[in-house]
Amino acid sequence: MAIRPTEWEGVFTDGPWLLTRNLVPGTAVYGESLPRDGSIEYRRWDANRSKLAAYLKCGGRVWGFHETASVLYLGAGSGTTASHVSDICRNGTITAVEISTRAFRDLLRLAETRTNLVPVLGDATKPEPYGGRTGVVDILYQDVAQRDQAGIFLKNFEWVRPEGIGYLLVKARSEDMAASPTRIFEAAKGEVLDAGLKVLDLRVLAPYQLDHAALVVQKP
Ligand SMILES: C[S@@+](CC[C@H](N)C(=O)[O-])C[C@H]1O[C@@H](n2cnc3c(N)ncnc32)[C@H](O)[C@@H]1O
Repeated sequence: MAIRPTEWEGVFTDGPWLLTRNLVPGTAVYGESLPRDGSIEYRRWDANRSKLAAYLKCGGRVWGFHETASVLYLGAGSGTTASHVSDICRNGTITAVEISTRAFRDLLRLAETRTNLVPVLGDATKPEPYGGRTGVVDILYQDVAQRDQAGIFLKNFEWVRPEGIGYLLVKARSEDMAASPTRIFEAAKGEVLDAGLKVLDLRVLAPYQLDHAALVVQKP
């Protein structure tokens, strides 16, 4: 199937799949396939493995991501989504913070070839050590799957420039196993509104990611 651009900068499609243009041709990150169109190689972006892809598949849009964007990414794991962000923001910088030493090792390996990726072994609940070094960013993307996700997000939002964008990926079960996910998503929205942020979108990520939502905000 022919590969064509989507409405979102840096994101392509062949029909059923979202794709990003591979910054490191010949290399897959998590076993994804690498379709080609002439001399250009792409990477399939799996919405069951990446909440940002799920957000787009569910009707969201790429707010803020562009070729030279700077991104502070909290909870980068082994770099599945961060690698696609690195494809999209190919001439930008992605500071990828991760608390697990095991996942951090994968990030270090990824950064050997993806030079726009800066791995940081750190704790998103204590942003001062990396926040000072990272400076002001265009986008904060958070996917930490632990308690107090909105509180952690607001602590880190200090490093987002005016009119910059934040993506808070909320995992309901990390907040409260018993409460309704809808109530948890609305509570997170209430917290960011109370902090004076503008809510651009709140979107549930089913069927790709169960009990998850993406909350997208903008700094005034
Ligand atoms: C759902 S996984 C991330 C998946 C990744 N964002 C992706 O899409 O490829 C959540 C990650 O957050 C990390 N994490 C949890 N608490 C954290 C914290 N306080 N600071 C930094 N990372 C944290 C976990 O170690 C885990 O790797």
